[in-house]
Amino acid sequence: MSTGRLSVRVGSIAPSATLAITAKAKELKAQGKPVIGFGAGEPDFPTPDYIVEAAVAACRDPKNHKYTPAGGLAELKVAIAEKTRRDSGLQVEPAQVVVTNGGKHAVYNAIAAVVDSGDEVLIPTPFWTTYPEPVKLAGGVPVTVETSILSGFKASVADLEAARTPRTKALIFVSPSNPSGAVYDRDEIVAIGEWAAENDIWVLTDEIYEHLVYDDNKFFSMPALVPEIAERCIVLNGVAKTYAMTGWRVGWVVAPIDVAKALTSLQSHQTSNVNNVAQIAALAAVSGDLSAVHEMREHFDRRRLAMHAKLDGIVGVECLKPQGAFYAFPNFEGVMGQQIGGQKIETTLDLAAVALDQANVAFVPGEAFGSPGYARFSYALGDDDLGEGLDRIVNLING
Ligand SMILES: Cc1ncc(COP(=O)(O)O)c(C=O)c1O
Repeated sequence: MSTGRLSVRVGSIAPSATLAITAKAKELKAQGKPVIGFGAGEPDFPTPDYIVEAAVAACRDPKNHKYTPAGGLAELKVAIAEKTRRDSGLQVEPAQVVVTNGGKHAVYNAIAAVVDSGDEVLIPTPFWTTYPEPVKLAGGVPVTVETSILSGFKASVADLEAARTPRTKALIFVSPSNPSGAVYDRDEIVAIGEWAAENDIWVLTDEIYEHLVYDDNKFFSMPALVPEIAERCIVLNGVAKTYAMTGWRVGWVVAPIDVAKALTSLQSHQTSNVNNVAQIAALAAVSGDLSAVHEMREHFDRRRLAMHAKLDGIVGVECLKPQGAFYAFPNFEGVMGQQIGGQKIETTLDLAAVALDQANVAFVPGEAFGSPGYARFSYALGDDDLGEGLDRIVNLING
């Protein structure tokens, strides 16, 4: 019996830094401060009307007021399998799909499905802040694989191989990436997939930003390019980012049949079915066309270019042009040690605190993503706020 009030596993979970910064910015705004937040990881657009209308109709149908299968509505699983074929060129059965309470739940359950005590999970930095926590909860060991601006924030096979041990069980792979905005190209994905297959390493591939790629970058799904990985691959996805549906909480996994069955059993004791109305909204989303996301992508693209130009123009700051998702991940190492806002800045944590305090600008320091010296700026906000917020940062640093 342990002696602590909290279990060691739950007691060791770090709070989500990105949700914390968003909450803090909202709180200051509510107090009347003119805060501009670059912290949010969600589209600033409303969910498209046809999706909302499907949900309204679903509310009125009493059959949706009842429990439904724990692994998801049959018609939604069919539509997700079809959507996976359309968008990724990957042939899957509806029985391989498990509908989850958002992408975060998909990540958590996928890790629970394959990670045992002492298993190591490779996580390239900068990582989405949620990845290490469910690994720890499962008793596993997150092993970070460092990347930097020099490699375009992409891990190579050599980087992964250097971190591999006999206990390496899985790799968490994400492209387009939150927080770096990096998009792996076809050859890079093939190389990593083949390496994982050769070494019997599971790949959890997070495809939630699949439709947000810019310029001539293209999204590829690893199991579609490397079929030999399919038996050890779990695809994670959801409607949140593609259809501006973060609050609806619908995600899914596409997994080998045995894993999908095990995840359905887990979910049957854990959450039961995902909210039926939200599932029907997701059904309208995934079975409709992609015009809404194409329209949003145009706005994101314009803001991406504006943000990149401003951040990269700050003396001492280096910013790669983001290739996907809706984040820029500039490097601030060139301004460390400087006096900014009357304070000596040693870390990006210091910089974020001074920016919020003195410029009323919120962004997430790289420490939250395992990459100190960097920071994440979301460009999922209106053009005026984006311009004004970045001007404040420019003035704060280059004054
Ligand atoms: C890389 C990545 N994966 C998964 C998710 C989960 O999204 P949700 O739980 O809102 O569906 C997010 C959200 O920020 C994300 O950035």
